[in-house]
Amino acid sequence: MITNGDLILRLYQRDDREALTRLADNFNVSRYLTDRFPNPYSLADADCWLARVGAEDAPHNLAIEWRGQFIGGIGLMPLDDVYRRTAEIGYWLGEPYWGRGLAAKAVGMMVGYTFARLQFIRIQALVFAENKNSARVLEKNDFVFEATLRQHITKHGRTQDAMLYARICD
Ligand SMILES: CC(C)(COP(=O)(O)OP(=O)(O)OC[C@H]1O[C@@H](n2cnc3c(N)ncnc32)[C@H](O)[C@@H]1OP(=O)(O)O)[C@@H](O)C(=O)NCCC(=O)NCCS
Repeated sequence: MITNGDLILRLYQRDDREALTRLADNFNVSRYLTDRFPNPYSLADADCWLARVGAEDAPHNLAIEWRGQFIGGIGLMPLDDVYRRTAEIGYWLGEPYWGRGLAAKAVGMMVGYTFARLQFIRIQALVFAENKNSARVLEKNDFVFEATLRQHITKHGRTQDAMLYARICD
C-alpha cells in the first residue's frame, strides 16, 4: 500500500466491483485506453479484472482510493526480453474525480514506488495524441516527451499518432 495524505494506491478488493463498474462504464474514460478496457463495462468485466489482478504474483495493478472511495486504477505493464527493465504505465480515474490533480499525484506515487522497490529503471507511457490531459499528468511528473509514433493507434475506426513519454530512474 502506498499512501500520500488522502490518496492511497492499494491492492484491489472484491468489494471494489460495484464502484469499479460504475466509474469504468463511461465512454469518456475508455476512449483513450486500449481495447482491453471494455466499453460498455459490466459487473462481469469487473469480476474478470479482479480475478486477473488477484492472480498476479507481483501485483503491478493497483486501485486508487481517495477519501475512502475507490476512484480508479493505475498499473505497470512490465516489458520483457531486452526491454525487461522498462515498464509501461497506465492509469484512469472515474470522471467525477478529474481536474483535482489526483492522477498526477497517483502517477508520482507509483513512480516513487517503482524506482525505490522494483527492478525497473525506465517507465514509459504511450498517450493518444488527442489526450492532452494525460500528457499533462506525465509532464507534471517530469516525464520527457521522446517521440511521436505516427499513426500508431486505431480506436473506434480512427487512426491517430501516439506520444511516447518516459522517465528514467535518476
Ligand atoms: C487523463 C486523466 C487520468 C487525467 O486525470 P486528472 O486527475 O484530471 O489529471 P489532473 O487533475 O492532474 O489534470 C491534468 C491536466 O488535465 C487538464 N484538466 C484536467 N481537468 C480539467 C478540466 N476540468 N478542465 C480543463 N482542463 C482540465 C489540465 O491541463 C491539467 O493540468 P494542470 O493541472 O496543469 O492544469 C483522466 O482524465 C482520465 O482518467 N481519463 C481517461 C483515461 C485516460 O485517458 N488515461 C490515460 C491514458 S494514457
